[in-house]
Amino acid sequence: MALFSFLKPSNKKVTIEPAGVSFEVKPGQSILEAGLSAGYAMPHSCTVGTCGTCKCKLSDGRVRELTNFAYVLEAEELQSDIILTCQAAAKSDVTLNIPGFELKHLTPPEDFKGKIIATEDLTHDTKKVTIALDRPMHFDAGQYVQVHHNDIYGARSYSFAMPPAEEGCREIELFIRQVPGGEFTGKLFANELEQAEVGIHGPAGNFWLRDGRGPIICVGGGSGLAPIVSLLEHAAKSDHGRPCVMFFGARTQDDLYCLERINQIAEKWDGAFQFVPVLSHEPEDSDWKGLRGFVNTAIEGAAGQYLSSETQVYLCGPPPMIDAVTETVLALGIEEGNIHADKFLDASHGISRQD
Ligand SMILES: Cc1cc2nc3c(=O)[nH]c(=O)nc-3n(C[C@H](O)[C@H](O)[C@H](O)COP(=O)(O)OP(=O)(O)OC[C@H]3O[C@@H](n4cnc5c(N)ncnc54)[C@H](O)[C@@H]3O)c2cc1C
Ligand code: FES
Repeated sequence: MALFSFLKPSNKKVTIEPAGVSFEVKPGQSILEAGLSAGYAMPHSCTVGTCGTCKCKLSDGRVRELTNFAYVLEAEELQSDIILTCQAAAKSDVTLNIPGFELKHLTPPEDFKGKIIATEDLTHDTKKVTIALDRPMHFDAGQYVQVHHNDIYGARSYSFAMPPAEEGCREIELFIRQVPGGEFTGKLFANELEQAEVGIHGPAGNFWLRDGRGPIICVGGGSGLAPIVSLLEHAAKSDHGRPCVMFFGARTQDDLYCLERINQIAEKWDGAFQFVPVLSHEPEDSDWKGLRGFVNTAIEGAAGQYLSSETQVYLCGPPPMIDAVTETVLALGIEEGNIHADKFLDASHGISRQD
């Protein structure tokens, strides 16, 4: 009996340096999950071991891999004790080195019961989906939730397409784009999820508007518009005086949506606000007078007046767009620490946790 209790797994302590914060992690729980449950803004995005956002150095202690780190990390990173906190359980007390760890309180994610109560076509391949929750959810503008449906393996992540409310939100709105061959979006667009019961886990994600006085450059591609609109609608409620340019990368005029809400943001914004839609596949002979091409090339030409050492950049959408825009803004002199991105990875980008 004494031996049995000696072997019983116990909670371990995780310390983040140089911030000097610490929290407990339960046996088998991921370090990321434990940190988020304690309300810390642990760096993360996908939570399932595909994006690499949560990687950091293990400076002391031992961890167990929940899925193989080698799916995401390079050989040199593995040799240098780099780990993924979303895929690591603690085998002993551990110390992690996370430079630039942000001391912001995030609402710990929880499980909610949800029901899809309305869907509305925004374009030919994007819907606004409204989900009623069993109780109000608090979140930061720009974050996302994970949606579970009983008939579909795993969860799908979708960003809030609305600003938060002080009293929490009993209904949440998402913008969901159809993905060819996609299981969840296939059912949604076949109208098989009307009034469907879903599990909601959230909030999650490190995408929120950072404090500052400098200009803001936002770039949303496709369904990546949701967190940008959430973030800007929320910021439009306060007096901050920050100039802002919002780029919307889409294929054609038929793919533009949410324009009325963007107009309202522009009207309420405290300071200069510019909206720049950029179309990559608009027919040559159409009546479109705006910019054409890929959004990263447009930024090179149109972002000049928004560049300063204090400029913050917020990017959301498909990974190739994020990678291209990140390269462009780095070349324009924006500091890496001022670039915040949410990559809308899907099942074609890697593996999901199987346990
Ligand atoms: C943080 C975050 C936020 C997001 N926010 C949004 C949002 O606001 N709006 C939005 O529309 N989307 C968002 N996404 C993407 C979204 O979570 C889903 O990935 C997307 O809707 C696809 O789900 P699905 O079930 O339809 O497709 P899935 O069934 O997951 O398949 C996706 C694609 O992968 C292919 N595929 C499936 N399995 C494999 C495999 N084993 N190997 C290779 N290819 C495979 C499919 O054919 C399909 O093309 C977000 C993603 C992340 C990570
Ligand atoms: S959050 Fe860990 S790999 Fe994406």
